[in-house]
Amino acid sequence: MASLLIKNIEQLCLCNINSEAPLRGNEMSAWNSINNAFLLVEDGIIKDFGPMTNAPVAVSETIDAKGKYLLPSFVDSHTHLVFAGSREMEFVERIKGSSYEEIINKGGGILNSAKRLADTSEEVLFEQAMQRLDQVMALGTGAIEIKSGYGLSYEAEIKILRVIKKIKEHAPIPVKATFLGAHAIPVEYRSRRQEYIDLLINDILPVVAAENLADYIDVFCEAVAFTVEETKAVIRAGKQYGLKAKIHTNQFNSMGGIELCIEENAVSVDHLEVMNSEEINKLASSNVIGTMLPSAPFFLSDPYPEGRKMLDEGVALALASDYNPGSSPSGNMQLVISLACIKSGLLPKEALAAATINGAFALELENEVGSIDIGKRANFLLTNEIPSIAFLPYSFGANSVSQVFVNGQKI
Ligand code: NIG
Ligand code: FE
Repeated sequence: MASLLIKNIEQLCLCNINSEAPLRGNEMSAWNSINNAFLLVEDGIIKDFGPMTNAPVAVSETIDAKGKYLLPSFVDSHTHLVFAGSREMEFVERIKGSSYEEIINKGGGILNSAKRLADTSEEVLFEQAMQRLDQVMALGTGAIEIKSGYGLSYEAEIKILRVIKKIKEHAPIPVKATFLGAHAIPVEYRSRRQEYIDLLINDILPVVAAENLADYIDVFCEAVAFTVEETKAVIRAGKQYGLKAKIHTNQFNSMGGIELCIEENAVSVDHLEVMNSEEINKLASSNVIGTMLPSAPFFLSDPYPEGRKMLDEGVALALASDYNPGSSPSGNMQLVISLACIKSGLLPKEALAAATINGAFALELENEVGSIDIGKRANFLLTNEIPSIAFLPYSFGANSVSQVFVNGQKI
């Protein structure tokens, strides 16, 4: 049996979580850690951990982690990792003064990425996405969600979902797939929106289900995209096929998306840059996870989600990268954690819980990843030698991760 011992760990973080539900309020910073610890991995699974005084002796391989912190890998529960090319020209347009919404309304934005995706083969999409996946894994991501939504036609949505399925089969980390056909209204459907919704529900969704191409369903519920009523129709259709909802809402407007997602038992509501007090209270008293994506408002120069307030009110908060070519061309979870602290007022320990165990709950992977618990996958990371856990978000923009392990293997 292949066994790996990590010894002399300065601090083993987020261990013994064993929680039935996402962490909230004080739990977010009260998680367990062990100083001067060991971690034992057997056959890719966490077998044991504890203080060094209890460390085993006979193992196949030992790594000395003196001065280093050990954390569960980040769970990035919201990305659009499969896209064709890039959109740096829109970035330049925005620097010159255009807004993200203006670019969308002119047929750019998501529609620009959809045009590029239509012209790109499955092979090339797969290669580009696997390169991005390698990059984010090297930065500490150990489980990921990937959305479609740059297809926006029958052929192209099925194409992007097949690419995601292939990534699932090849990636060493857990991958969850989300059908986001309702990401934007294609130009040719602008005057007949209902026909596009019908296409999604009646033509694409049955194939998505038959080919097992998605775990979740998503809608961009926003003034520039889909209304609450349209969102409801898509969520309900997804439910018929056993797909739970993870919804983009409250990025620019508060228009009823939160209430709808609570009523429809969504797994998560994502973005939350714009939230009123009533919405925060309702979300706090629900089982729906609130996912903040702070690199999107960073990149778009928008207001940040009120993380501190939501956490204090009791919202179960997760953090994800939103990696996509338009609003967050970065999948760096270390930066996301820094931004959540600097701009949304989370404490470092709270942000780490949001990016690990609560992200795992947002993908229903809480029994597999997101904490250091016996029986979970050995997906974890070792930091550089750092003075304290707060040094991670403090040293923003730096890579503080020295080694990444996936299924107990160093990558
Ligand atoms: O989560 N808001 C909607 N979708 C993505 C951005 C998509 C794009 O601009 O390509 C997001 O921010
Ligand atoms: Fe997104």
